[in-house]
Amino acid sequence: MFSEQLIRKLKNAKIVAVLTGAGISAESGVPTFRGEEGLWKKFRPEELANFDAFMRNPTLVWEWYNYRKKIISEVEPNPAHYALVKLETLFENFYLITQNVDNLHRRVGNKTIYELHGNIMRNRCVDCNKNIEKVNFTNEDDLPRCDCGGLIRPDVVWFGEALPQQVLMNSFIAASKSEVFFSIGTSAVIQPAASLPLEAKQSGAYVVEINTEPTVISNLVDESILGKAGEILPQLVNKITIGLS
Ligand code: APR
Repeated sequence: MFSEQLIRKLKNAKIVAVLTGAGISAESGVPTFRGEEGLWKKFRPEELANFDAFMRNPTLVWEWYNYRKKIISEVEPNPAHYALVKLETLFENFYLITQNVDNLHRRVGNKTIYELHGNIMRNRCVDCNKNIEKVNFTNEDDLPRCDCGGLIRPDVVWFGEALPQQVLMNSFIAASKSEVFFSIGTSAVIQPAASLPLEAKQSGAYVVEINTEPTVISNLVDESILGKAGEILPQLVNKITIGLS
């Protein structure tokens, strides 16, 4: 399954970066976006995942985020998440760049995490930008509001919005410094995240894709491993830790 070149490079690497997408949480039961049962097959992003839609109908958008938060609160990280915690201990510098807002990488204990699209467990005020830990939305009569009176929104990046600049910059620096770069469980169609594997490749990294199916970057990467992340990543960790201990 793994080329000797990959194993050799990992055994000598000091800097490794990983980009994850919804596919890494699929085996935990979190729906992906563009898969068969994907969220965008059932829901319209233009009605739910953009700022104007939120200001037009905050109740609808909060109902939808509550629905997603309920799913996420009822699932557990899977072996792929745990394998990334183990991988983080094997390299001097390990960067976990995620498009996921599901908080599972944090829950499982990874340390260096760049959340490109925010985190569904965080909230902030649309007026004063204050971060608000806990919000409780039950119905349209008590929409979450900040002390300043502003509406509170989930701290996630919606379509048409800029990504958190410092996180984005750190992610591109990590990709450009990496010796081995993994792209795991992402369709690699949403920018700017989808440019990170390319950035790594152009900076000389050995780029590996792990996905259940080919993607638009499969011809660009050095190694494309087809299969479930929850099955492949634990095997990879075993393979590179043999002889290390
Ligand atoms: N293991 C590995 N890959 C998997 C698995 C699995 N068990 N299950 C699904 N996949 C792959 C799919 O083949 C697909 O290529 O994961 C990918 C999920 O792709 P998307 O649903 O497009 O999700 P993602 O790439 O994370 O979307 C990027 O788009 O909608 C926005 O903000 C949202 O962060 C999201 C961004």
